[in-house]
Amino acid sequence: MYCVRKVQDDLYYVGGNDHRLALFENIFPIPRGVTYNSYLLLDKKTVLFDSVDWSIAKEYLRNVEEVLAGRELDYMVIHHMEPDHAGAIDEIVLRYPNVKIISSEQGFQIMRQIGYHVKDEQSIIVKEGDTISFGKHEFLFLEAPMVHWPEVILSFDTTTGTLFSADAFGSFGALDGKLFNDEVNFERDWLDDARRYYTNIVGKYGPFVEDVLKKASTVDIKMICPLHGPVWRTDIAWFIDKYIHWATYEPEEEGVMIAYASMYGNTEYAAQALASALCERGMTNVVVYDVSNTDVSQLISETFRLSHLVLASVTYNLGIYPKMKNFLVDLEALNVQNRTVALIENGSWACTVGDKMEEYMDENLRMFDILNERVTLNTSLNEANENDMNALADSIIESMKKIREIKEKSAE
Ligand code: FEO
Repeated sequence: MYCVRKVQDDLYYVGGNDHRLALFENIFPIPRGVTYNSYLLLDKKTVLFDSVDWSIAKEYLRNVEEVLAGRELDYMVIHHMEPDHAGAIDEIVLRYPNVKIISSEQGFQIMRQIGYHVKDEQSIIVKEGDTISFGKHEFLFLEAPMVHWPEVILSFDTTTGTLFSADAFGSFGALDGKLFNDEVNFERDWLDDARRYYTNIVGKYGPFVEDVLKKASTVDIKMICPLHGPVWRTDIAWFIDKYIHWATYEPEEEGVMIAYASMYGNTEYAAQALASALCERGMTNVVVYDVSNTDVSQLISETFRLSHLVLASVTYNLGIYPKMKNFLVDLEALNVQNRTVALIENGSWACTVGDKMEEYMDENLRMFDILNERVTLNTSLNEANENDMNALADSIIESMKKIREIKEKSAE
């Protein structure tokens, strides 16, 4: 009995699940686990696509051996050299010493940097547009730099219309027996993790992802085999549309994320008051997060999803509360752009945080439209703030209306 799934007539899934890892890349929480996907083609030649993280190497090697059923392994394609996929290269070379490795020139360079033992005579370098036939299946290779490392290549099986997409179209989350997107309720159970995976890992490289999407649009994709998460065989256009939004920093939805930094609950109360005011005005697509106990990867993901962002922060050491500053720094690092922002600031004396947040965004973030209306609290929300809070809620609603009108006009 083996953990193998049939993907197509002669293509098998030989990867696996990891429920033990708490932090992906030692930074992103993955409470639903993660998969390291690998595929094995049994054509005239046998071809293994990528390896897995070292942590699941034992079951992966067992899967490969089972599917090969005594055949030799002829080729191994390495699309991406990050160790969550390249961890078992040496084990494959040791067990199948006649295997030829196919990768990009930089892929082989990184292989040597990491210290894998791949000989020159077993290396085949591919570049954009190269094709290789393995028998019935002919593969086209495409370069995909910075999706997510510079050496990344994708491959496309022109016989079946299958795109091997490396990290692109992947997701956090363990599959636990399921394999295809239509075997899970992706929109309900997976989309948030797919967004959090993309936006935090590849989000910075939107223009590079756009390039890949353009290349992908030139071929007829019937299936996508990514290196993490489900294999896509239905609703491919729906998922590509998500990627178009994320790569171009276009919000998916009209809505508001209120991220607050509060030491004793007063700024939190103001954040909730604004949420109520927005809902009273009919805008119920509102989420509220405490930056102190929400992982920043979730804040980033929600920023990509929604059109409007409210930052509500206490003044701390005459500046921005560190957890809020961390969020702003991550927004900058990931190149997030094109959002409308409103500010709530709090300070019991010397309230400076609103100006500091605005200054940071003006200097470091692109196309962040900061609304003029601002609520300034002197320790806690009181009646004196009522007009400002109503004005802030009104201005958010008004800006949504304006954005909608602009979109409608440009669509005409
Ligand atoms: Fe899943 Fe960039 O590695």
